[in-house]
Amino acid sequence: MHQLVINGPCQLKGETWVSGSKNSALPILAATLLCEKGTIVHGIPHLKDVTSMISLLSTLGMVYSIDDKLSLTVEKSNVTLLSPPSDLVKSMRASILILGPMVSRFGEVTIDMPGGCAIGARPINLHLDMMSKMGASVVMMDDKVHVSAPKLTGAIINFEKQTVTGTENAIMAAVCAEGKTVLNNVAKEPEVSDLCDFLRKCGAKITGDGTESITIDGVDCLGSCEHRIVPDRIEAGTLLIAAAMTKGTIKVNDCEPMHLQSVFKLLEQAGASLDIKDKTVAIDMTGDLKPVSITTEVYPGVPTDLQAQFMAMNAVANGQSLIEETIFENRFKHVGELKRMGADISLQGNKATIEGVEKLKGCVVKATDLRASAALILAALCAEGESVLESIHHIDRGYSNIEEKLSALGASIRRHPNYMVL
Ligand code: EPZ
Repeated sequence: MHQLVINGPCQLKGETWVSGSKNSALPILAATLLCEKGTIVHGIPHLKDVTSMISLLSTLGMVYSIDDKLSLTVEKSNVTLLSPPSDLVKSMRASILILGPMVSRFGEVTIDMPGGCAIGARPINLHLDMMSKMGASVVMMDDKVHVSAPKLTGAIINFEKQTVTGTENAIMAAVCAEGKTVLNNVAKEPEVSDLCDFLRKCGAKITGDGTESITIDGVDCLGSCEHRIVPDRIEAGTLLIAAAMTKGTIKVNDCEPMHLQSVFKLLEQAGASLDIKDKTVAIDMTGDLKPVSITTEVYPGVPTDLQAQFMAMNAVANGQSLIEETIFENRFKHVGELKRMGADISLQGNKATIEGVEKLKGCVVKATDLRASAALILAALCAEGESVLESIHHIDRGYSNIEEKLSALGASIRRHPNYMVL
């Protein structure tokens, strides 16, 4: 297994850039099941989860080509298989995103229950309830579920809680359903709106994305389009937090500042000065790093996907802070590893109290999930001495070329096959 070897402390300086959003690319790739061949998607991020999704869709029968600029073209839009292989489905939660489009266009799908991962049980009850409300039959078979409908019908769906992929599945199920669908208490994340923009370009009739309620008028079928994936706001936030922790000065290009308002507020509270332009944000953190208390919320609140990274920042800030995780029931797996590096963190249920320390110490740490890996890399950039991050397959799921980007900003970080800690 590869490891990342990081020597700290460092001070990040220079310019970097943000790739296309993982959490936008995944639903849009699933949505290509609904589109005609010839559809082109630009800005596909080079990530493990994305290649897994492309493999999963290709196994079903879809055919894609990708050029050296990471633009993907749908060469053939059809399926010969109605049940993807278990190993691919279980490799990531986002496999559930094929549910809506497969039943909408091909009438059925049999899919494994996506595994829960380190951050929580990750049930799919809201997805299945929504499909049955749109007329689908839902049959549980051991650890698979078979969902089928000759033709989905529009319905009023009131989500009992906001679910990002649940909202995305509902939209993809509704765009070619019979009649009108109204979705209430929907997720307002920018990635949901990006999916809607993509589907509208293909002929879908969708209004209200970004608000509490989305209305969709079903059409017979979708055509093709050309679309560019929005920038990854979580990668941008991770890079900005890394600069703040290392008291650095960096400029992040190709990002979407509109999607980062809650993050900017926290970074300014932490003492950073920000220069925000149309598609770039520059951060200068030469002053004292102040702790920031956060409660994770649905968009536009503080994203749960940056909770671990802010905790790493608070671990070396000058004072006490409180972090409350309200979205997932088990998203503090990074705490144990941060404490091994010398962080002073105590847990009470879904709340963490962090006492900032003067410095962390480098050591061998193990990643448990994607964003926990990012937090450990950030902590290692500040820690004294060498850190070895094991199980880095987690980081490769959500960050493309992380070591190149951080090295270019002055970090000492390199990937090692089977690095032996002497
Ligand atoms: C999406 O996951 C993201 N993944 C996650 O990013 C992100 O953390 C999450 O939204 C919250 O913003 C993708 O978009 C591919 P949810 P999703 O359904 O859709 C509960 C990352 O690091 N729930 O919005 O799976 C659920 O357990 C990943 O990039 C049900 O109870 O999350 C959670 O407590 C991690 N039943 C809450 O809702 C359901 O049927 C929100 O989950 C569905 C969800």
